[in-house]
Order: sequence, then structure tokens, then C-alpha cells
Amino acid sequence: MELDLNNIPQHVAVIMDGNGRWAKDQGQMRIYGHMNGVESVRETLKCATELGVKYLTLYAFSTENWNRPKDEVEALMSLLVDTIIQELDELNDNSVRLLAIGDLESLPASCQDALKQGIEKTKNNDSITLILALSYSARWELVNGMKKIAAEVEAGNLKVADISAEHISSSLTTAGIPDPELLIRTSGEQRISNFLLWQIAYAELYFSPVHWPDFRKEHFKEALLEYQKRERRFGKVSEQIRTH
Ligand code: FPP
Repeated sequence: MELDLNNIPQHVAVIMDGNGRWAKDQGQMRIYGHMNGVESVRETLKCATELGVKYLTLYAFSTENWNRPKDEVEALMSLLVDTIIQELDELNDNSVRLLAIGDLESLPASCQDALKQGIEKTKNNDSITLILALSYSARWELVNGMKKIAAEVEAGNLKVADISAEHISSSLTTAGIPDPELLIRTSGEQRISNFLLWQIAYAELYFSPVHWPDFRKEHFKEALLEYQKRERRFGKVSEQIRTH
């Protein structure tokens, strides 16, 4: 079956999972899996751009990942810095705009610098926006958002009765970014793991059995095909969807 290019999700979010298991299966250290995962990032970004996806969000490091062994955390941070720096020209050549969400201040200074540089140098690109979720968790983001809204109320700028879903959306790190229509998780795990909890309210969930380092264009296209087969009803009945 062919992909319908008129029905491509605007925003795809991905939980890149299975790097550690992929490496272990080959008798290698976990970081070997992360290193090989970079090629999957490249392929997925390229494929998403070609198909006309406008936002691609990748869960690269969760708040909980800080609890991993120090060596792995340090190696992952260096990998991120090196990758961002190395790929910068390629991102610009393909008109990719880079953004980051999460508790960025908790990242090492080298990582913050690489991100700032990447974001600044790609800010005018408009083919696709690549959003890296780093030191991110949805509950962290929601707590922060609630505090911002509470402060507005306390300052007398907002009435409790006026708080709307839009206020909550714009208090989050994804303010201004449309919600993902499709969430992909690799490696067979069927969990959300504290990722974009508010934003995926209506997203289609797709679980791929493939470990992230093996994830290629064909797997991304498979996820999109599956998305296109599903009927998104938003609480309505089929007949209402078909007549609109
Ligand atoms: C999850 O696999 C993967 C991560 C925590 C890190 C993902 C990071 C990369 C692929 C490098 C990304 C580079 C850029 C530029 C975005 P896991 O370690 O949880 O695997 P496991 O479940 O098998 O242990």
C-alpha cells in the first residue's frame, strides 16, 4: 500500500527505545547502541522531511535517565554535543530548524552551548522543526506550567474561572507547537514513560517491535501507513467524520 501524501501527520513524536538491549544482544556496551541510534535519527529525520512532516520530536533523554550509571550519562551527553555540532551543516542544508524542550538548565554547559548554537544557527529554516526532548518529563513540565498559571492568578492577571485548555497548552515547553497526531515507540515496549502526556491526548499510538538502532525509513513509513489506516474520531461517531 502507498502512503497518501495528503494525509501526513503534521507532528510525529518518537520514544527512541531499545538502544541498550540492541547493544547487549551484540555483546557490546550500552553506549554502542546509542552511537548507532544516531544513524536512525538521521534516517527518520530525512524521511520525515521528505514526506512533509513539519515537526519531529525525539525523546533523547528523560528526567529519569539521570539515574543511569554516571559513565552512560556522560557518554550520552558527549554523543549529543558531538552529534549536534557535526550535523549542523547538514541540518542547514536540509532547512531543518532545531529546538529543544526540557529542563535544559540541568544539562552540562557543553551541551547547553551546543544546543544554543544549533538553535541559533538554524532558526530561520522552515522545512521541518526537529525538537529534542532533553532532561524532559511531562510531569516536570506540567508542574512548571501549573506554577506559571498560579503565579498569573496570584498577580491578579488571570481569574481561576478563566483558566482554559489553551492556557495550559501555552504554559508548557511545547507552547506554539501543534500537538502530535502520531506517537511512535520502538523496541516493543507499550508505555508512554512520562512523555508529552498533555499533548498526546488525541495522538495515535504506534508501537514498533524494532530496536531504535535498527529503525530505518521503511519502519517510519510503516508507522505512517498504520496511522493512515486508522480513523481519527475525536469522540465523534464514524458517520460524523465521513460527512465532514
Ligand atoms: C533509549 O534506549 C535511548 C536513549 C535513552 C537515548 C537515545 C539517544 C540517542 C539515540 C542519541 C540521540 C542523538 C540525537 C542527536 C538526538 P535505552 O537505553 O533505554 O534502551 P534499553 O531500553 O534497551 O535499555
